[in-house]
Amino acid sequence: MVRTRNNGCVEPLAVRGETCGTGLQPVFSPVENRSHNRLTDFATDCRAPRKSFTAARMTILRRRSLESFFEKGYTPLMKFALTRDISPAINQCELTHLDRAPIDLARAREQHDAYCGLLSELAWTVIRLPTSIDLPDSVFVEDTAVVTNEVAILTKPGAASRLAELPPVLDVLANFCEMEFVLPPATLDGGDVLTVGKNVWVGVGDRTNQQGFESLRNYLQPHGYTVRSAQTKGCLHLKTAVNRAASDCLIVNPNWIDPRIFSEWKVIEIDPSEPFAANVLWLGEVTLVSKSYPKSRDRLESHGVLCRTIDMSELAKAEGGLTCCSILFDA
Ligand code: GLY
Repeated sequence: MVRTRNNGCVEPLAVRGETCGTGLQPVFSPVENRSHNRLTDFATDCRAPRKSFTAARMTILRRRSLESFFEKGYTPLMKFALTRDISPAINQCELTHLDRAPIDLARAREQHDAYCGLLSELAWTVIRLPTSIDLPDSVFVEDTAVVTNEVAILTKPGAASRLAELPPVLDVLANFCEMEFVLPPATLDGGDVLTVGKNVWVGVGDRTNQQGFESLRNYLQPHGYTVRSAQTKGCLHLKTAVNRAASDCLIVNPNWIDPRIFSEWKVIEIDPSEPFAANVLWLGEVTLVSKSYPKSRDRLESHGVLCRTIDMSELAKAEGGLTCCSILFDA
């Protein structure tokens, strides 16, 4: 996110949570890795289409030294992951396409801690918002905001039980970003928004309505984004069905979304025995894949995608996945 108050520098008080009163628990990443990781992010952003992720990254890194990066005026931004802890009421979460199965809270929290820990290890500065018993789904923080390099949009979740999740997310993001708002009757879940460069697809369905799609399009089009709606069938969110898996490719469950709408991209299909496997989290350097989907991971790796596996089996029972648990942005 480029519009920070301090010319690209982080406002330390916001990170510590001293100004926003939300009880933030920051987990700081190793400082020495940040420039490197920002550089590799930049490298992947400048990828040549259809090159493998690693090849593209290495080509760019050979071409650009750290010095030329700074000479060209790029600011070494920090990478932030906004997360939210798991509510003690997670067993009362919303469910749309799954039958309720008991969620082991302690195990779910261990898995979520590991998720935050892995992001931190990968040089993301992890902000952990506290939760409460009133917010069963708050761990799925992705649904509350859409953050791009130019603007951040506070959403309007389509499940009424989730509206109370918004204020602390706004408190945090407003320290970093210019904020815009989705207003009723529009509804929009961040899990329905897939951004690939300047292309945005919005799933219109259970949680996001046509007005929500139009609202997001109105905010993003002036910044050069092409915003299209996409139809899913049989799954909760667009990002249950499709996600970016590397700089040059997407992973898709073809039973839940028609892969032909992504014809400009290399598309890898999930293994049919693992329908939820498309919810991977692309982090620029590596892609997180749930431990429950080894066959789909094999498919990604056979296409040159660097993967890290993480166990998210408890939160999967709450109809959530890897993308749902964070909002990623630069500042
Ligand atoms: N349980 C995730 C959601 O329904 O939003």
